[in-house]
Amino acid sequence: MHPLGHIILNRVDFLAQLDACLADVNLDAVRAHIAELRAQVAVWEPGGIWDTTPFHGAPTEDARVAFPRDVLLADLDQILATRTLQRTHYYIARLRKAAAEVRTGKINDINLNRWKEYDEIITDSLWVMERRDNSGAHKAWYWGNFIPQIPHQMMLRYTKHGEWVLDTFVGSGTTLLECLRLGRNGIGIELNADIAARAREIVAEAPNPHGVVADVLEGDSRVVDYAALLAERGIAQVQLVLMHPPYHDIIRFSEDNRDLSNAASVDAFVTQFAEIVARVTPFLERGRYLAIVIGDKYVKGEWIPLGFYLMQAVQAQGYTLKSIIVKNFDETRAKREQKELWRYRALVGGFYIFKHEYILLFRR
Ligand SMILES: C[S@@+](CC[C@H](N)C(=O)[O-])C[C@H]1O[C@@H](n2cnc3c(N)ncnc32)[C@H](O)[C@@H]1O
Repeated sequence: MHPLGHIILNRVDFLAQLDACLADVNLDAVRAHIAELRAQVAVWEPGGIWDTTPFHGAPTEDARVAFPRDVLLADLDQILATRTLQRTHYYIARLRKAAAEVRTGKINDINLNRWKEYDEIITDSLWVMERRDNSGAHKAWYWGNFIPQIPHQMMLRYTKHGEWVLDTFVGSGTTLLECLRLGRNGIGIELNADIAARAREIVAEAPNPHGVVADVLEGDSRVVDYAALLAERGIAQVQLVLMHPPYHDIIRFSEDNRDLSNAASVDAFVTQFAEIVARVTPFLERGRYLAIVIGDKYVKGEWIPLGFYLMQAVQAQGYTLKSIIVKNFDETRAKREQKELWRYRALVGGFYIFKHEYILLFRR
């Protein structure tokens, strides 16, 4: 990500050098000063001043400031590439801001004065993920789970450290494992008792470096008493809701008729899903986000756009659609013969095999 690692600078010294440049009206002198700084950053040897921990815009200490070295070098190069004093001062002032102050918005911890450093955060609507993140406690044991990158991206964009996330179909607990990693509190609801128990065990064994809450509750998301559940944890609302329902009956998760994968029809599935949205809405803070992960299905020669049906059902409840993300479908588990059979069917039937699912993003 940042191939040259991070460099930690003495903040006061660094700011003083930039201030000197800003006070100087001799362009050549300013450029010489910046070139000298760049040379220091370029040759900096690993040692006490180095830090290799990933940088998530965590508040920097007063005395020190950390920069990915490649980003700092690029900033200094940008200053050196300008030809006028005004432009040179403009870029120096911007670098000064990056080193001096943290500027975050209301819904996440992204330091907007240092936005260039967040290359981990995806901002495009097409996600082609080559690999699932199987690091740490994430194991892809549950058929029908989602890749950890989904809750990871959602939490970095739509929550702050220490805020609360609700997942109404938590399955194997992927969302909660990500909560532990990123320091968000999480509540996950799962209908299937065996799966809930297993998820609870996995979450309990995973490291919890930020000391957050990560609870798996067994229950039917349609009837859970959300007010009580949140009150027990000392909160009235959450800041992000993640929903990864069954894609109707594509995978039947249980024999339980409360399970959305057993909904009698597509209409019933959409209605039941919409009921859950209606129930959780009062418990999602206004201005915050609801993310739905859903794929379509194919029945008797017809493409059934489950994603679009759910999208409309949520819009009808007053939510603002913020983005439709298209994510490639992880098919590594599909057997080769199955793939060939589908290809044959597609050629015969005049359709395309779906290779994608959606992440529908709404703002309350
Ligand atoms: C697509 S999976 C979610 C997987 C999860 N994101 C993960 O990474 O493991 C959907 C889950 O919803 C559960 N489910 C179905 N109906 C439910 C309901 N009414 N209330 C709560 N959970 C339900 C199923 O048992 C299944 O585990």
